[in-house]
Amino acid sequence: MSDSKASNQMWGGRFASGPSAVMEAINASIGFDRKLYRQDIRGSISHSEMLAATGIISRADQEKIAHGLNTILQEIESGAFTFSTRLEDIHMNVEARLAELIGPAAGRLHTARSRNDQVAVDFRLWVKDEFFRVAEALKGLIAVFLDRAEEHAATVMPGFTHLQTAQPVTFGHHCMAYVEMFSRDHSRVRDAIARMDESPLGAAALAGTGFPVDRHMTAKALGFREPTRNSLDSVSDRDFALEFLSVAAICATHLSRLAEEIVIWSTPQFGFVRLSDSFSTGSSIMPQKKNPDAAELVRAKTGRVNGHLVGLLTVLKGLPLTYSKDMQEDKEAVFDAAETLDLMLAAMTGMIGDLHVNIEAMKKAAGSGFATATDLADWLVRTLGIPFREAHHVTGRAVALAEQRKVALEKLPLADLQAIHPGITADIFSVLSVQNSVKSRTSYGGTAPNEVKKQVRAWKKRLARL
Ligand code: ARG
Repeated sequence: MSDSKASNQMWGGRFASGPSAVMEAINASIGFDRKLYRQDIRGSISHSEMLAATGIISRADQEKIAHGLNTILQEIESGAFTFSTRLEDIHMNVEARLAELIGPAAGRLHTARSRNDQVAVDFRLWVKDEFFRVAEALKGLIAVFLDRAEEHAATVMPGFTHLQTAQPVTFGHHCMAYVEMFSRDHSRVRDAIARMDESPLGAAALAGTGFPVDRHMTAKALGFREPTRNSLDSVSDRDFALEFLSVAAICATHLSRLAEEIVIWSTPQFGFVRLSDSFSTGSSIMPQKKNPDAAELVRAKTGRVNGHLVGLLTVLKGLPLTYSKDMQEDKEAVFDAAETLDLMLAAMTGMIGDLHVNIEAMKKAAGSGFATATDLADWLVRTLGIPFREAHHVTGRAVALAEQRKVALEKLPLADLQAIHPGITADIFSVLSVQNSVKSRTSYGGTAPNEVKKQVRAWKKRLARL
């Protein structure tokens, strides 16, 4: 493609000399917005069809335009296309090449359109596709968690608050907590898609156009629910990009919490899980090590995604209506966040699917740290009818005694327990084992294995409809 003209081909009439190298460098977005080539060509073909259908351009010109654009699509996909920084962005690169290919008819494509509504529609199309990709990836991760939860509905592990042993739970129940989190992320994606499903094409530069365009026709052709309703908002709105980044940041934050749990669980000190070789690395110097690199990187990449959200919020804050060139800075943030999130979701889905669960280590840890102390207190309330606060106090004394003797609660002799409270009978031992503890938590959404299995069943059905 010719890149030799000194002044810009698009507004060369007014600007006599070409831009300085620095201006060209700061102005150009082709280095990153070339990613939008498919959306740009699709948008242009739909626009040309509408221009022909409404009699704004001739059918003959439209056919030349569409043919030329399809040729460009092939050139780009085959790597034969030469992108030019002087032509600034994807829109002008494509249009300039179209002029080379089909001559004067190319000049009619931009009738009743501006790069302002063009970039808005291209970017929306791209973000919408990416939203669907994220939704699919989330469904894949949820499915893996449901399988692990089913498999480990009765695998006892310690539940934590403050990362201190709190009460026994099951690993299946823990997995289901992530199902809840990632399904909320999924529903946020769906909500955001519904809000952004409007076509800004036809808003033109900012005020709309005097040409008899059919905005409903282009909206429909491009797969949008309807056209946007205000031309000013159409070219200045980037909420869809902000929403993508917000959804991505929340999802990345969830992934990061999970990553941290995997890092903790896979330490030799915890030993709850072992990562498969495909998702861990060794040390070049310490032969005993198996490092959770993929989990650590998921944890770290969250910083990038969250940073992009803050970055774009800051770009947009204080921008007057309507378009300002600042808005060109929206793309790299979204592209990088999208690529990063896709990779994080893929890595996490792989890690969870392959994770080896050390049932014995989890069970052992669940039984230490007096995790069933609450069960003892609850027994006192239920069986002896004493107020919970007093039961808490009695239990505290039993824990202190067990601690002093360095034994588990259920290993305290009955006589010693009766010395603390004379009402205690041998029946108490039935609630002090971790298995019985989790089995007793039958409240809706509780950790009892049967409750967990119920939730897994319900979610498997729900997932098929997501
Ligand atoms: N490259 C520009 C962007 O990404 C396209 C829109 C240019 N519009 C303009 N009025 N300069 O934002």
